[in-house]
Amino acid sequence: MDQKIKSLLDSLDYTRSEFWNISKETGLFLNKLIRATPSIKTILEIGTSNGVSAIYMAEALKAKKEELLEIKSKNFLPKNIPLSKETIAVKSRVSQKPNSKKTFHLYTIESHKKLRYKLATENFKKAGLTQYITQILGHAPEVIPKNPKYFDLIFLDATKYEHTDYLKAILPRTYFNSRTSKGSIIITDNAISHKKKLKPYFKEVKKLKKFKTHLIKISSGLLVSERVE
Ligand SMILES: C[S@@+](CC[C@H](N)C(=O)[O-])C[C@H]1O[C@@H](n2cnc3c(N)ncnc32)[C@H](O)[C@@H]1O
Repeated sequence: MDQKIKSLLDSLDYTRSEFWNISKETGLFLNKLIRATPSIKTILEIGTSNGVSAIYMAEALKAKKEELLEIKSKNFLPKNIPLSKETIAVKSRVSQKPNSKKTFHLYTIESHKKLRYKLATENFKKAGLTQYITQILGHAPEVIPKNPKYFDLIFLDATKYEHTDYLKAILPRTYFNSRTSKGSIIITDNAISHKKKLKPYFKEVKKLKKFKTHLIKISSGLLVSERVE
């Protein structure tokens, strides 16, 4: 991880309980998942707070975009210069080209204008990630942006009893690509710590035939639902 961003995240860890931030463990899991999954290029987050989870996720998008740009620039080398093993490996991992200005981008929604939304803006600036993040001020699910039409990853971390509303709104924004066998992933935080409050959400997720769901026992618990058809 970028050292400047790592230091910023370390400093934000001191106020973690004040801003209900995800743990470092969860952040690193999300970061690694995004880095290791080429199909994740467009992310929606509900619940920005002061921006910690968004920073973990956007840092991974930035790293993937930079890898891709490096590969592209190496491809301009004369053909008789062989590509290094590392370049070939990265090339196969980042298999798809960005198809619009807004790929490798995270959209994040926060309703608390006075403090948390503004702090997130400042933190994104400090992290140098502003160009990878669009902040949306307002109450989800009403303000979920219409564009892009589909999201590769959706991270839910807001008011627990509203999660069924978020799910209803985001389902039409998920996809499954039968050619690549890749589909959208929905990750819900606090699946263990807020088990009771999330019960109605779990019930709805269970009914989804097109998704496979797993509980990952990291920190507060992550419920990972992947669209498989
Ligand atoms: C648990 S905190 C998010 C923490 C953040 N994901 C992180 O790890 O840094 C939840 C945030 O969601 C916001 N929130 C709650 N319900 C919301 C809604 N319906 N729409 C937008 N934001 C919401 C709250 O104001 C709060 O800042």
